[in-house]
Amino acid sequence: PPERIPVICIDGPTASGKGTVAAQVAQQLGYHFLDSGAMYRTAALAAMRAGIAIEAQHEPRLAELARHLPVRFEGGRIWLAGDDITDAIRTEEAGMNASRVSALPAVRQALVALQLGFRRLPGLVADGRDMGTVIFPAAPLKVFLTASAAVRAERRHKQLISKGISATISDLRADLEARDARDASRSASPLKAAEDALLLDNSLLTIDEAVAQVVAWWQARQPF
Ligand code: DC
Repeated sequence: PPERIPVICIDGPTASGKGTVAAQVAQQLGYHFLDSGAMYRTAALAAMRAGIAIEAQHEPRLAELARHLPVRFEGGRIWLAGDDITDAIRTEEAGMNASRVSALPAVRQALVALQLGFRRLPGLVADGRDMGTVIFPAAPLKVFLTASAAVRAERRHKQLISKGISATISDLRADLEARDARDASRSASPLKAAEDALLLDNSLLTIDEAVAQVVAWWQARQPF
């Protein structure tokens, strides 16, 4: 039964390094990887393309759209119908739209089955905001990964610069604090650490060090 397939949850705020850490943990363990944020980003993009404004009054239509989202995750790329949207969903605007659509409970509900479908042998590493609190509450390892706002803004800045996108650190910091505030204050599955989550502040760690810590925690929980 799927409940027997191991899941490692890595939740935390925007730009905490969760995505990179979770993907590398999955790779080291040979597990599948769920980027749940990408689902909300894709749902938001699909709404824009369908001409549906991301507002509470359109919640039923947005949920319907999310329930039948023609999304495929394949070889590190993400497809919406026939379109490769891997890069389109990574902009700051796409992140903010994802945060807005994700505050609607019916949309969250519509994406549950899609997320649960990623739980396959030999195991799953799930990255998001509510992996440990709502989607996989019985997961044997839950990590809440954080970093200071200053460090997160700086990392995001470096990322954007390396892609040739200009932005100021102070604007980025204001954006990510606004997004965290929305994600943490919503009533549906807010961003918060599960009670049994292990806290990992990676402000002063390299990616490799954070990955090694999660893998060490995981190995410490294995019966063999
Ligand atoms: O992790 P990310 O930046 O790609 O996520 C984009 C937005 O999606 C985030 O601001 C809040 C929402 N989200 C969520 O509500 N629940 C998740 N499990 C993952 C993301």
